Amino acid sequence: MKVGVDYYPEHWDVALWEQDARQMQETGISIVRLAEFAWSRLEPREGEFDFDWLDRAIAVLARHGIEVVLGTPTATPPVWLTHNYPDVLPVDNKGNAHYAGVRLHRCYNSPSLRKYGARIIEKLTQRYAMHAAVMGWQTDNELAANDCHCENCTLRFRGWLKRKYRTLDELNREWGTVVWSGEYSDWEQVKTPLGGSPHLNPSFLLDFRRFSSDAVADFNRFQADLIRKHSPGKFVTHNLWGYPVTADYYDMFDSMDFASVDYYPATDLRDDSKSRMYHGALTLDLTRGVKRRNFWVMEQLSGTPGCWYPMSRTPFPGMIRAYAWQSVARGADAIVQFRWRSARVGAEQFWHGLLDHHGLPGRRYAEFVRFSEEAGRLTPLLEGTTLQHDVAMLFSHEQLNAFQIQPQADGFDYVGNFKRFHTALLRMGIGADVINWRSDFDGYKLVIAPMLYLIDDEMAAKLRRYVETGGTLVLTMRSGVKNMNNVCLPERLPNLLTNLIGAHVDEYDPVGKDVQTLTFESGETHACAQWCDLLIPVEARSIASYSSEYFAGRSAITKNEIGAGVVYYIGTVLDAVGTKSLLRRIATDVGIDCSLDLPEGVEMTTRRAEGKQITFVLNLSKDVQTLSLPLRDCVSALSDRRFAGGDFELQPGAVEILVR
Ligand code: GAL
Ligand code: ZN
Repeated sequence: MKVGVDYYPEHWDVALWEQDARQMQETGISIVRLAEFAWSRLEPREGEFDFDWLDRAIAVLARHGIEVVLGTPTATPPVWLTHNYPDVLPVDNKGNAHYAGVRLHRCYNSPSLRKYGARIIEKLTQRYAMHAAVMGWQTDNELAANDCHCENCTLRFRGWLKRKYRTLDELNREWGTVVWSGEYSDWEQVKTPLGGSPHLNPSFLLDFRRFSSDAVADFNRFQADLIRKHSPGKFVTHNLWGYPVTADYYDMFDSMDFASVDYYPATDLRDDSKSRMYHGALTLDLTRGVKRRNFWVMEQLSGTPGCWYPMSRTPFPGMIRAYAWQSVARGADAIVQFRWRSARVGAEQFWHGLLDHHGLPGRRYAEFVRFSEEAGRLTPLLEGTTLQHDVAMLFSHEQLNAFQIQPQADGFDYVGNFKRFHTALLRMGIGADVINWRSDFDGYKLVIAPMLYLIDDEMAAKLRRYVETGGTLVLTMRSGVKNMNNVCLPERLPNLLTNLIGAHVDEYDPVGKDVQTLTFESGETHACAQWCDLLIPVEARSIASYSSEYFAGRSAITKNEIGAGVVYYIGTVLDAVGTKSLLRRIATDVGIDCSLDLPEGVEMTTRRAEGKQITFVLNLSKDVQTLSLPLRDCVSALSDRRFAGGDFELQPGAVEILVR
């Protein structure tokens, strides 16, 4: 376990560096991330480099036992670069170039960005490759797919399409451009999706998103290759921005050694309009799933967020510490707080760091110091531990993008609906690995694969094999709708999955926010919304029927036994209680303990290693919660208190780390 901060020495008087480094050391900080936006200080004018200040900053930190992670500065092309080489600036779908003076104003396909980006990365990596205090590299900052329509992107998109479809006839056929006379007769006519109309061809739009995602993955690979060439043996990571995003993180992190995430949990927990309470847990699990290993938090919430929108609530007492532990509880091996000092200048003056503008330690700082001290103490215990789960959830950026192009019903949201399953498991204390839908999931007892809207034979066969050989699979509405080119499949829904689920969809109703009800075999009734598939079970058995409107009595959920396994199909979006109740039955059947019912905001996860079992119990809410502890005879690693089981009270922000 390592604890650190993001630090911008270039924003502060040199006289402060020594004092900052000393204070960092006193709080147990052993890593600092530097320089990810400092291009104009590293290369103030084209071809004129200045590393002296960075040498000195690293030296000051190193003297205080602090190692650094260096960021490549390509997220902030300096003014001279965009001025001299305007191809660096992305162009929007109306043909307007972005303006300089902000950040992320760069096109990944720009030859000038590649050329000058390569040069600054080479200079940096060559200079610091052998530096003992430089532990590794972060590429760029929060890469996200661009929606760029510049000349270079247009040419490359055409090339991308030629490689995929080979001929224009094939492209016309696969996209169905015959609709509205959209057929191309010459490659020159093929452009990026200009204009931004929602009526553009969905196959075209999806391919453009894939192209944009490939471009950013390629840009990341280009950086990683350069870094590895000049600075072999040091790690290369990237700090992802969270979800939902267009870029396919599984591709983007191919070239990375491990994933890092920037974690800013919502501080307005009471006004939880975005149901952010459990968004963080999903984000952290998704991040762990990107490389299927432990990760880093490269930016962790340290203070009041805000600036270009009104400031949110200040993190409530206990929040800084509890949420840092939450990251660790879900697989983080390093916590880097954003940021050490709150900026006095620039666009982010009110995105607060650990220290306020006056620089004197306050409540948030004290919470961090407590976390840092505890993390230091528990490092040997946590060494080598990972989360190991019986349940996998299959996540897909392809589905996410396809649903963003064509939202299926009022209130329908891929990540939101995905989160319903994740949250239901979380509330029962059941851990899940959230992994790439294309990756291997054979070993899991239970696989939940919501909304496999785009499907191909390979995926259908893989799911079938998993079930036949003893797996339990959960599928849902909006599965098997389209082929991978975003074209509707011709059979009854769910097409390629019909035999597997042993049922088909007779009719569907995108009910949206028009809430319906369904009744389980047990008689239990729950609300459902967004979407209602009216199912006709063939080999499958119906285990729930609707009890509202014209579809009362029609099947809503089926269960099919195939080979040694079982597959469930859920034809609607159940409310939270219904989802939990259904998953409880399904998971109990495969031998997973579902006896827990965690109160709102309480999370429980376990990190394990040979002979070690460390359970984190966190109260991430602002309310006192009471938990009936299922563990007997364990000891708190923080307080040495012994727990015999039974009820115990968790204060807001409470952290218990229990060792068995
Ligand atoms: C992150 C970004 C940081 C900082 C922070 C607060 O997304 O990586 O550089 O801007 O947000 O706004
Ligand atoms: Zn471009």
